[in-house]
Amino acid sequence: MNLPNLEEARKRTNKKVTIKKNSYDFQSIYKGKKYFLKTYGCQMNVHDSEEIRKYLELLGFEPTNDLKQADIVVLNTCAIRENAHDKVFGYLGRCKHLKHEKPDLLICIGGCMSQEEKVVEEIKTKHPYVDIVFGTHNIHELPQMILDAQQKQNISVYSIEGDVYENVLYSRDSKISAWVNIMYGCDKFCTYCIVPYTRGKQRSRTLENILDEVKLLKKEGYQEVTLLGQNVNAYGKDLDPQLSFSQLLEEVAKTKISRIRFVTSHPWDFTSEMIDTIAKYDNIMPYIHLPIQSGSNQILRLMGRRYTKEDYLKLFQEIKEKVKGVSITTDIIVGFPNESEQDFLETLDVVRQCQFDGAFTFIYSPREGTPASKIKDNVSLKEKEERLAKLNELVNFYSLQNNKKLEDKVVPVLILGKNEKDATKLYGYTDTMKLVNVCGSSAHIGKIVDVKIKCAKSFSLDGVIE
Ligand code: 5AD
Ligand code: SF4
Repeated sequence: MNLPNLEEARKRTNKKVTIKKNSYDFQSIYKGKKYFLKTYGCQMNVHDSEEIRKYLELLGFEPTNDLKQADIVVLNTCAIRENAHDKVFGYLGRCKHLKHEKPDLLICIGGCMSQEEKVVEEIKTKHPYVDIVFGTHNIHELPQMILDAQQKQNISVYSIEGDVYENVLYSRDSKISAWVNIMYGCDKFCTYCIVPYTRGKQRSRTLENILDEVKLLKKEGYQEVTLLGQNVNAYGKDLDPQLSFSQLLEEVAKTKISRIRFVTSHPWDFTSEMIDTIAKYDNIMPYIHLPIQSGSNQILRLMGRRYTKEDYLKLFQEIKEKVKGVSITTDIIVGFPNESEQDFLETLDVVRQCQFDGAFTFIYSPREGTPASKIKDNVSLKEKEERLAKLNELVNFYSLQNNKKLEDKVVPVLILGKNEKDATKLYGYTDTMKLVNVCGSSAHIGKIVDVKIKCAKSFSLDGVIE
């Protein structure tokens, strides 16, 4: 198992996609046993965990939220930043302790960290009590690996992404809103990012298979689908014949499912045709997550993002003009190598111009094997932390300001369930992806209701059902 180098990885980008059908033939031999599943990272991992959970349940395991009750622990890991690693290894310490008391406990590690050679080495040498290591390309092997689990560590990780699997079964978190993978992997190779290495080259699912899944979800009563990919706008470029994301989006809209969302968009592949499609269909939600990463052209170039600040602003304006009431959120990294105070001020300036509805902000974290990790990480941690704090202050200011504009307005909210902390409240999301807490009964769950917004905070809204 090797982390491919940049040259090798790039060469692999235009392989024809082959589709494999999954087949399942398990027996529930673990009836009465319990599983504990912990997920780190992005929506892709959250959705992968829905697949993992299905396999565990097919084997007869039942869920527990209490680590001590577990007979099997599965950690679905993230590799995007170093602190994600630290968290997982910290958690492993707790699992090791438990295994002393319960020697039959099975400990499994999957997800993006497993795709890194150095992590597998570390598990082999320092964490021999881990029973199973599986990767992002062979989740379907997990059930067999569990059935085969013996005294010896069982490691199976594919370094090269394989086929696109269809008919995957999921034990979904929600009966109302579902994730739908439209593609796997990413070919963008932003210089800081480990995803093209851990998730592999881009492989799109066919239009037909995606539509079948959406239609089935609609039939099952789902109100919302979120189309998932690392870079959804590049959807279909690897298919033969090629397809565009705009074409896919239009076909999904025609299924008449109530709400369609998509994440994540890269500004490079975002066409005017796409914006027109989003504007044309009422069931495509007016919400776009559009990572900018930096407001400095020098840093954007070093990041390999393939657009300038000016390109981003032009696209941003076009979306705002054409898509009525759209909300736009972003991702920003501070402290990329060579980021000067001036570069950082340019990022703040772009935030002021765009007044984002929200932003996920990160301190740059060098990832071994990526091109950026070879540039000297020359911004001190103190500077990075100060920049992050300043950026967050500004970002939160605009989030609140945008949310305040909704006070006394009536907005459509899809109610997803009961608020975990306050059982008298329900929660849901506006069409523009803002979290809303309301009073209401269970009868409202799964419905799109009109809500009058009473009070806006930075990260949520309080309202009453009209
Ligand atoms: N360091 C910090 N942030 C990163 N991201 C991706 N790679 C890194 C890294 N090495 C951020 C980007 C991306 C989001 C998912 O995570 O902003 O959009
Ligand atoms: Fe990573 Fe996103 Fe860039 Fe792909 S487009 S390399 S997932 S940051």
